[in-house]
Amino acid sequence: MHIKHLSLTNFRNYGRLELPLPAGAVVLQGNNAQGKTNLLEAVYYLATSRSPQAGSDQQLINWTAAESGEPIIVGRINAQVETQTGGRIIEMRLIRERNEGRHRPYSFRREAVVNRRTVRLMDLLGNVRVVLFLPQDIQLITGSPSGRRRYMDTVLCQMDKRYCRDLSHYNKALEQRNALLRQLAEGTGRRDTLPIFTDKVVELGSRLFVRRASFMYELGREAQRIHYEHLTSGNESIRLHYLPRLQENGLNRGGTVSQLTALSDFLYKNEMDAGVVGEYFQSIMQATLSADLARGITSTGPHRDDWMIEINGRDLSYFGSRGQQRSGILSLKLAEIDWVTTQTNDPPVLLLDEVAAELDGQRRALLLEYVKHAAQALLTATDSDQFPNDFMDRATLLTVANGRVR
Ligand SMILES: Nc1ncnc2c1ncn2[C@@H]1O[C@H](COP(=O)(O)OP(=O)(O)O)[C@@H](O)[C@H]1O
Ligand SMILES: [Mg+2]
Repeated sequence: MHIKHLSLTNFRNYGRLELPLPAGAVVLQGNNAQGKTNLLEAVYYLATSRSPQAGSDQQLINWTAAESGEPIIVGRINAQVETQTGGRIIEMRLIRERNEGRHRPYSFRREAVVNRRTVRLMDLLGNVRVVLFLPQDIQLITGSPSGRRRYMDTVLCQMDKRYCRDLSHYNKALEQRNALLRQLAEGTGRRDTLPIFTDKVVELGSRLFVRRASFMYELGREAQRIHYEHLTSGNESIRLHYLPRLQENGLNRGGTVSQLTALSDFLYKNEMDAGVVGEYFQSIMQATLSADLARGITSTGPHRDDWMIEINGRDLSYFGSRGQQRSGILSLKLAEIDWVTTQTNDPPVLLLDEVAAELDGQRRALLLEYVKHAAQALLTATDSDQFPNDFMDRATLLTVANGRVR
């Protein structure tokens, strides 16, 4: 699939942008702070309803527009998308609303539109599928588990509506269970309603567990092939381990490989039988019940999941060199492209932010090989000299300066 036309209104430093885009590789060149990353962010936000960096939607609205006194300002990202099965027009709107008597005078509401009809936010997802590369992706290895969970959720939500719906319902059920646990810890609340929320958490959580397990298994298989064959010429073996929080205590990351894989193997094997997983999850919930009651929080479940990358038998976050960590992330991301492509038969749009500069010759060549075969790739760079001539010969070069694109 590819984006034929992108238009932005009041998004970050873009007041108004109308940008026709060709298929294939598009290089966005420009000095720092001109709006290159903002452009990729807009596309990513439209595809996933998440920003890779902003904490709140408020930050996405153009400052000047946000400060003006107009009653409602609509920030808007609109794209005409061409897919294997036809075209569509998708749009995300940010609508400013006055808050009556609250601390903040305004808040922003999101509205999703597909082919001129308002839809639920969830139904916007998947209309354009993207794979994003950022220099800070390395934090997937070195950063916190919440970032790694967000990674699984963002990729899966673009592909699988049911997963996304389950996730949203799970989070609500979890919130309700936690609220009740807190009340019970304070001596209020009704104990006999707890099993209702526990059952809901178990039912929805089991579905998230099995979906994540099969996703991580398939992604790991692709990553292994790419890493071994193309990136390290048979020198390094990479493994992805899904670490479901489906046990009483957290995993000891220094544990043996069989300890690490036992649970995810169990989930993968029972993918088709959520009942088996549900029973197991329920038994763990009973085992942790007294601890949950004492702490006023749900200690097991997919909201505490993690995953890790292992290279040649060692945990990449502890033992990998910076270079190995970069290769590990590259294999993961290329695997993501392959996975999305096989699942949908329609290659995703690639968004690459300043990544060419970070990679050495062999890795850059492999990445550009993927870009060459992509339906569309938007690449940013301060200088297009970073790309080889034969690559630039076939790419479209655009210049970004102060919120304008030429
Ligand atoms: N909400 C906003 N409104 C207006 N300008 C913004 C907003 N958020 C960020 N900016 C500006 O956008 C510019 C950064 O754009 P960015 O896309 O990150 O640049 P680069 O071309 O280096 O990738 C900065 O000048 C920043 O001040
Ligand atoms: Mg940038």
